[in-house]
Order: sequence, then C-alpha cells, then structure tokens
Amino acid sequence: MQNLETEILGRKGKLTLILRGIKDLSDEEKRTVGQLSNKVKTSLEKEFEHKIKELENTSIEKELGKTFFDTTIPGKTRQLGHIHPLSQVQEEVERIFSQMGFAVMDGPEVESEYYNFEGLNIPKDHPARDMQDTFFIQSKEDQSHGKLVLRTHTSPAQIRTMEKYGAPLRIIVPGRVFRYEATDASHDATFYQVEGLLIDKDISLSHLKGVMAQFLTRLFGQPVKVRFRPGYFPFVEPGLEVDFSCLLCEGKGCRVCKHSGWMEFMGAGMVHENVLKAGGINPKEYQGWAFGFGLTRLVMMRYKIDDIRLLTNSDLRFIKQF
Ligand code: PHE
Repeated sequence: MQNLETEILGRKGKLTLILRGIKDLSDEEKRTVGQLSNKVKTSLEKEFEHKIKELENTSIEKELGKTFFDTTIPGKTRQLGHIHPLSQVQEEVERIFSQMGFAVMDGPEVESEYYNFEGLNIPKDHPARDMQDTFFIQSKEDQSHGKLVLRTHTSPAQIRTMEKYGAPLRIIVPGRVFRYEATDASHDATFYQVEGLLIDKDISLSHLKGVMAQFLTRLFGQPVKVRFRPGYFPFVEPGLEVDFSCLLCEGKGCRVCKHSGWMEFMGAGMVHENVLKAGGINPKEYQGWAFGFGLTRLVMMRYKIDDIRLLTNSDLRFIKQF
C-alpha cells in the first residue's frame, strides 16, 4: 500500500508529475486544472491514510477471533472407494496361480473367428458359432482369420500364447467374454472367465486334479475335493466337466448342491492335438491340459449372490457390502 502511495503521490509520483506540468498551461487552464488536481490529491491522501491505518489494525489473529472456531469438531471424512468383488476374487485367483508358477496373460476382447473358433478345432458348422451365441463386429472378412467377433470365451488366448511363447507354458488368462444371450438371474451377455493352460513333457490329468484341488482349497480356506466327469469341448480330448465338493456340506449333500455333494465348476481336458498344432507346438513332443471356469460364477458362489446382474449394474447399495 505504501509503495502504491509513493508511486502516485511521491516526489516522482505520477500525480506529482502532472501537478508540475500545470505551470506550462494558460492562466485559465491553470485555474480549473489546478483546483481539480488539488481536490484529487487531497482525497487520495485521505484515502491512503485511512486504508493504511485500517490494514495496520487488522491481523490474522483478530480476524479469526471474530468467528468462533471449535477445534474439537471431527473433520470431514473423505469417502474412499474400494475394489469391486469381481476384481477382488480375480486378484486372489491370480495370486494363488502365480504362487504355483503360472504367468498371468491377457488376450483381446475383439477376436477373429479364427482364434475364437477354427484354431480351437471348432468347425464352421459347430453350434457354438451360431449367430445366437456370438456377437459379430461389422467388418470385412479376411481370408485367413474370418470376421471379427467379441470373444465368446477366453480360450483363444491358448493359441495366441502358444504362438508367442511356445512350450513349455504355464499360464492363466482372466478376462471378459461375451455371448449373445437373453439376460436373467444366472445369464448375462457379458461375464468373466479364467482360462488355464499348462504345456510340458509328460503332463497328465492327475496334474490338473492336483492343481485345481490346491487352488480351490487355498481360495476357500478349507479342504476342497475335485472330481472329473466326461464332457465335450472340441478343443480338448479327452474333455472333462470338473466339479468340486460342496463347501456347505463338504460332500454329504444339502440344498445348495441339490443333494449331490458337488458343485459344477468348469470345463477342461487334454489340449487337442489340432490346437497344439495351431499354436505351433509339436504334439509328439509336448502335451498339456487346459481349463476354463466362470470367474463371475465363482464370485457368486463365494458371496452367495443369487443374481448375476447385481455384479455389473453399479448399484452402490449392493457394491458397498463387499
Ligand atoms: N472355453 C470353454 C467354455 O467357455 C471352457 C473350456 C476351456 C473347456 C478350456 C475346456 C478347456 O465353456
């Protein structure tokens, strides 16, 4: 403030210079300009004096003293978000498989027909390729890879990783998959799967049984048994349906497992030799198994969620419970 005062009213101030210029004016001009500038000068001097006093009298302490400030009032807590139940379980699955030496891989959600079907030994007329199951992207067909689709399972990543890394291989691929389906409590057009693939020498299904029993036991924190039933998937031979012992009754039979003692869990099997070949791996030298389970279904089983749509419809009343 004082600087500003000197700048205007000081010896070399702007107003002082104007006042000095008055002497060069005519007599009449001298009178009017002289009177006016004197008025301006005195009123500015007053204003400066007033303002400087006012500033000297106010201090931060004085200002704060005017309003009552209660330091014992609790602060405002910031609302923190948290990890979605699907991601929580996915992270746990990744952790357990990593500890067993599996690498966590990724694959594209928009796939070619080749990787989603043909490379996996699913011929053109297989029902899985029906328009009703698959979302097609409007795209030109390419000679070797066909049209673009939204992947209907994570299995195309089997071929992509075999092509890229060769054998031996030990991977899981968690990811989002899409099916052209009507939605209800147990079906959604978008859901999550986890693919597993192990390729090495002298690999058998007993390794798969051991790995899955170990995985589920660690995931659920209680002993879990695994059983195999025959199943059909074009990309495995032999193919399997894999169940695990009911967590509630531990295999004795209850309402949750419909008195069977078992929960249906996933598809699996020994990787078909056509699939190994598509991945550039020699079936005479290497073999392995693959599995695919629904991460979404696993989350539902784990937290006893009875409607799949709750997981993706962003209702905070639901999400905040996890
Ligand atoms: N891709 C199959 C499905 O989506 C699951 C599967 C994966 C089966 C790997 C066998 C081997 O149903």
